[in-house]
Amino acid sequence: MIARPMAPNLRDPTLRLIKASPEWRRELRAYARDYRKRGENMHAEILEDFEGFLDDLSVAEDEESLPPGVVSYSVYWLLREDGRIVGRSTLRHRLNEALLHEGGHIGYDVRPGERLKGYGARMLGLILEKARERGLRRILVTCDSDNIGSARIIHHNGGVLDSEVVSRQTGKKVSRYWIDLGPQEA
Ligand SMILES: CC(C)(COP(=O)(O)OP(=O)(O)OC[C@H]1O[C@@H](n2cnc3c(N)ncnc32)[C@H](O)[C@@H]1OP(=O)(O)O)[C@@H](O)C(=O)NCCC(=O)NCCS
Repeated sequence: MIARPMAPNLRDPTLRLIKASPEWRRELRAYARDYRKRGENMHAEILEDFEGFLDDLSVAEDEESLPPGVVSYSVYWLLREDGRIVGRSTLRHRLNEALLHEGGHIGYDVRPGERLKGYGARMLGLILEKARERGLRRILVTCDSDNIGSARIIHHNGGVLDSEVVSRQTGKKVSRYWIDLGPQEA
């Protein structure tokens, strides 16, 4: 058996982030169906109103189109070389008080059936590049303190533990990590 490397290759060229568009309709629907089969309906809009789903993502990019206090965000999908979408990640464009407390800049999940293959760690690496392109320099990433996989992903991407807080939403302990993206390039 080949031993898995300690740290995944965060710059894997066979993976890239895409935004949702009509071109990816079939694959995004397959992705959503995988969640539904597991009883998780978090991607229901993809199946029930694909155009509405695309519109919502486009509105989410622009803070002026959103209700007051809602932070704009971009959603990316992790695409494998063979055309399969294996994960999703959300980049919030700034922090508000609630995000600073427990939400952080970035959220991610990996497609059921594709977990434990290193995609989570590589996806965070790729979305950090998107954050850098937006001019963000210090990124807050949080996870439930008992989410070992997520904590490992943050660790692989240079996260430094700042503090542990109690979630106002769930009452569970949440770990807060900062990732320093370094100085702005000249
Ligand atoms: C958490 C999640 C993103 C992990 O994605 P993944 O692609 O399986 O993670 P990776 O394969 O990149 O694994 C990274 C490391 O975490 C470990 N790991 C992943 N899931 C784990 C689990 N359930 N239990 C223990 N370790 C786990 C891996 O073994 C790997 O360890 P390493 O340090 O030896 O490399 C995925 O399980 C998921 O989508 N969960 C539901 C949503 C979620 O929790 N999102 C995060 C919110 S903060």
